[in-house]
Amino acid sequence: DWVMGDYITEAVENIRKQVGDEEVILGLSGGVDSSVAAALIHRAIGDQLTCVFVDHGLLRLDEGQKVMDMFARNLGVKVIQVDASDAFLGKLAGVTDPERKRKIIGAEFVEVFQAESGKLKSAKWLAQGTIYPDVIESAGKGKNAAHAIKSHHNVGGLPDTLHLKLLEPLTELFKDEVRELGVALGLPREMVYRHPFPGPGLGVRILGEVKSEYADLLRRADDIFISELRDTVASAHDAAAGLCTAEDIGKSWYDLTSQAFAVFLPVKSVGVMGDGRTYDYVVALRAVQTTDFMTAHWAHLPHELLGTVSNRIINEVRGINRVVYDISGKPPATIEWE
Ligand code: XMP
Repeated sequence: DWVMGDYITEAVENIRKQVGDEEVILGLSGGVDSSVAAALIHRAIGDQLTCVFVDHGLLRLDEGQKVMDMFARNLGVKVIQVDASDAFLGKLAGVTDPERKRKIIGAEFVEVFQAESGKLKSAKWLAQGTIYPDVIESAGKGKNAAHAIKSHHNVGGLPDTLHLKLLEPLTELFKDEVRELGVALGLPREMVYRHPFPGPGLGVRILGEVKSEYADLLRRADDIFISELRDTVASAHDAAAGLCTAEDIGKSWYDLTSQAFAVFLPVKSVGVMGDGRTYDYVVALRAVQTTDFMTAHWAHLPHELLGTVSNRIINEVRGINRVVYDISGKPPATIEWE
């Protein structure tokens, strides 16, 4: 039987044996895999680990602060936080093509990470949160398959240029095991069981050109949606209406969806507010249920929940006067809008 305590003891010993007294750097994204890798390696070698957290300015509301609180403050992990939002937004100015946006964000990420890592001259290892499905996925994709890079931007070439040895302590684990390990290492459940978030972040959830004004509006709308999903539990009424099963009653709608987020549409429409006319932007809500993210159904959320989210966004986020719900399945639509 797979006992987590024993697993941690063994993994910690292995990391210590591998690394000795050398120093390790790790790119922390705030995602589950890099977070669990950081917590495990920190348990093994403490201050020999330095994390680099690149904030590209396309994170969710207060996300940078949350990552710093969890790692630097609560766990005592050494974390270098790099606020690179100006650099990223500068490179993205005027760019509207989704694939070009992804490439720019990925390349800039590598550049910033590399510049920061280069300052840590004593580092001999680059740690990554590669998990078993990543290894399988990359097998057959070229000769470096087993060591293929899984940065959260899916960009290769990082360790080659840094001349670092790779430390990948999670390669034997499946996602659910990584989550269990994270909880056992003291990471908050809420963090470990989060929906996936794409590496390019809000960059692919702001359609067309990314502007900081749009990102600010989107962050606030998205936070309202996610908070309401977390705070609303499925009821017997929802089950009777066929929105969920009887076993789902009492679970939060956040846990009953696989991924949920808001999308910023750079489109203005007319509205009324009090005595006045408004001419403001639109936000789309997307929530899906899926097991593998290759195909997905749009989530049949309770109408009252959607109504509450819409009212709150329109009342609280000045600049948004219309909220729509995405009822497209994958295929033919993708989960993200870009
Ligand atoms: P799509 O939109 O292709 O998304 O249906 C499937 C899953 O992949 C995530 N996704 C990404 N993750 N970098 C990432 O790390 C990306 O560029 C990227 N694009 C999509 C998406 O959030 C969903 O979970």
